[in-house]
Amino acid sequence: MSLRFCNSHSLYHLLLVLVIFCSISTIYAEANEDPTIRTMEAFSGYPIHESNSFVTNLASSLSVDTETLQKRIDELSTFSDTPAPSVTRVLYTENDVLARSYIKNLMGLSGLSVREDAVGNIFGRWIGNEAELAPVATGSHIDAIPYSGKYDGVVGVLGAIEAINVLKRSGFKPRRSLEVIMFTSEEPTRYGISCLGSRLLAGIESLAKDLTSTVDGQNISFLDAARSAGYAKEPNDLSSVFLKKGSYSAFVELHIEQGPILEEEGTSIGIVTAIAAPASIKVDFEGNGGHAGAVLMPNRNDAGLAAAELALAVEKHVLESGSIDTVGTVGILELHPGAINSIPSKSHLEIGYRQWA
Ligand SMILES: *[C@@H]1O[C@H](CO)[C@@H](O)[C@H](O)[C@H]1NC(C)=O
Ligand SMILES: [Zn+2]
Repeated sequence: MSLRFCNSHSLYHLLLVLVIFCSISTIYAEANEDPTIRTMEAFSGYPIHESNSFVTNLASSLSVDTETLQKRIDELSTFSDTPAPSVTRVLYTENDVLARSYIKNLMGLSGLSVREDAVGNIFGRWIGNEAELAPVATGSHIDAIPYSGKYDGVVGVLGAIEAINVLKRSGFKPRRSLEVIMFTSEEPTRYGISCLGSRLLAGIESLAKDLTSTVDGQNISFLDAARSAGYAKEPNDLSSVFLKKGSYSAFVELHIEQGPILEEEGTSIGIVTAIAAPASIKVDFEGNGGHAGAVLMPNRNDAGLAAAELALAVEKHVLESGSIDTVGTVGILELHPGAINSIPSKSHLEIGYRQWA
């Protein structure tokens, strides 16, 4: 299973990871071509090995406005449900909607033609000289898990907009259209589905169907939440989001590394060579409650301990997988009724699992 790159989320480093050829390019690259083995010429449409070529001159004239880019990253981080320096931006909340407006406004300022689909994937296109050719796209997400940092995903969106600006300032005129994409809900925070926007773009029909009955922890349906944010106006049909085969020529994603490895190695950038297949499982246990002072240990049927045993089993399974990159996490563990003097009668846990190919 090859899905769009999904990251883990301890966010302390500004190291950049170049994530290439995610599912959109993998699944929807032009027919009969393996996008990973095309030449730079094929991607760019320009000869790049000739001396004094347009591209050589171009490269020397490119200059990134790091000050403005940093200012925008800082501004975007203010759309948050938790105080700085943390960022919490959950799908279709007020701050998510404000952040989306911010992105669309920047795309407009860069002269991109902006489109949104029914779940709020946002596309800003710089139309190329040969507009009928499939575009080259880049982008990432701006939703942020609770108490995340300000760079996760954001670097790949604001960085992409700045990359467009750099090219525009240099006088470059693209042959293929170039497009910045902001993917909806890379994070599973609200509806338990990661890479929601990009999976729909990839045409996952079962997901489009499931989303019509999906609710969040407050029993707010996905469709109601999407409507409250100005999306999903057509009743119960999300298939309009699906992309046709060949919609993109190539896709590249710039992303911070969320782990410590590049920093530990003193490496400034890396290229992803494998993509995680993330999965999540929700488990509920029911046992027998009782007074914690009165029910003796042999007579207990403690739903909390069952959850704890499963959590340890997940750890053991992952450690024994033989793959250092395979990870499993019990990030939610709730006990009912949740009192120090009451044996848990129910427990709920959620397991996140990312297996590396
Ligand atoms: C969730 O909302 C639906 C429809 O509004 C309702 O029928 C259902 O009983 C609610 N479920 C819970 C657990 O509140
Ligand atoms: Zn991310």
